[in-house]
Amino acid sequence: MKTLHVELGNRRYPIVIGSDLLSQPELYTQHIKAKQVLVLSNTTVAPLYLDKVLTQLTSFDVQTVILPDGEQYKTLDVLTQVFDKLLASKFSRNATLIALGGGVIGDMGGFAAACYQRGIHFIQIPTTLLAQVDSSVGGKTGVNHPLGKNMIGAFYQPQCVIADADVLDTLDDRQLAAGLAEVIKYGLIRDIDFFEWLETNIAALLNRDKTALAYAIERSCLNKAEIVAEDETETGVRATLNLGHTFGHAIETGMGYGTYLHGEAVAIGTCQAADLSRRKGWLTDADVTRIIALFKQCHLPTEPPEQLSSEQFLDLMAVDKKNVNGHIRLILLTKIGVATLPIDVEKDLLLQTLSNYGRK
Ligand code: NAD
Ligand code: GLY
Repeated sequence: MKTLHVELGNRRYPIVIGSDLLSQPELYTQHIKAKQVLVLSNTTVAPLYLDKVLTQLTSFDVQTVILPDGEQYKTLDVLTQVFDKLLASKFSRNATLIALGGGVIGDMGGFAAACYQRGIHFIQIPTTLLAQVDSSVGGKTGVNHPLGKNMIGAFYQPQCVIADADVLDTLDDRQLAAGLAEVIKYGLIRDIDFFEWLETNIAALLNRDKTALAYAIERSCLNKAEIVAEDETETGVRATLNLGHTFGHAIETGMGYGTYLHGEAVAIGTCQAADLSRRKGWLTDADVTRIIALFKQCHLPTEPPEQLSSEQFLDLMAVDKKNVNGHIRLILLTKIGVATLPIDVEKDLLLQTLSNYGRK
């Protein structure tokens, strides 16, 4: 078992990474401040892991909310079910919400915790690779809007993150690969040694080698924790975590939430960002080929959907939290392992990527 910390002063919190953590109640019960606990999960994760968590919470007054499974349910409307339950159960301000699930449940649970009575305690038990390496850490919470991904939300940090690698045993290969897209991101934006380690160990990760997975989770969380500690509310370096995400969010919104997994859309978007970085003269052809090859080894898509035209991409990319005064701003790579802060990109170069990269 390894414990890292997100260093945020008096809001400092642990990320515990290891095996069989769900059966070690003190890991999370020590962060519960009062009797009232709500566990939020979904229809896929609850049958697998809810009982295991509930048996550790017998001394608490526990309520559960089980949401439908899918990115298309990450909405304000669906989130109302959580507020209904909290109010009907007369939960007070010292209550704790535990989010048991992937990034969708984590983002929704965190946002509900941030909003209910202006803030209750919150614990993340991430159950996908993507959630363990990225979404459960750092306090970005929220829901989607039909016009834009994650557009309604709040920064709200959890009391702790419990990343039990054993739960990944039930995750299917497509979801595991989607999580690897965010793992590769850390190598690309700030950790060339990790990128090279990933190139060497990608087969072990895809084969679910426990040691390799534990290392990838820990190294990813270490990178994320350092970035969040430096820039909690994304006024600077935290934006680099959005490499490929402006393209990716456009794909998710444009194709309909849930058509592409978030990690799949990020993989494509990162290849588009790499192509644009080459057009800027920063990456070489060989760098771009190397980046695409790693995503391809994970069986992740690397080319944008044909149905989305350049004009649609531009329109969708205009709704992004990094944009300023209506200008699209992107994270690019000056080399593998070094990302820019958000930059305005010449429109003709962006159009070249949108109309040429990955187009038949
Ligand atoms: P997800 O939450 O939809 O989970 C993927 C699928 O795996 C779902 O069907 C889920 O029910 C299932 N699942 C979860 N755990 C399982 C397990 N252990 N065994 C079997 N099935 C399991 O998707 P995700 O990829 O975890 O997260 C994507 C979401 O995270 C997106 O909404 C994205 O915007 C968000 N995100 C947020 C941040 C952040 O910083 N807050 C960062 C990255 C992504
Ligand atoms: N996943 C992007 C961030 O946490 O900032």
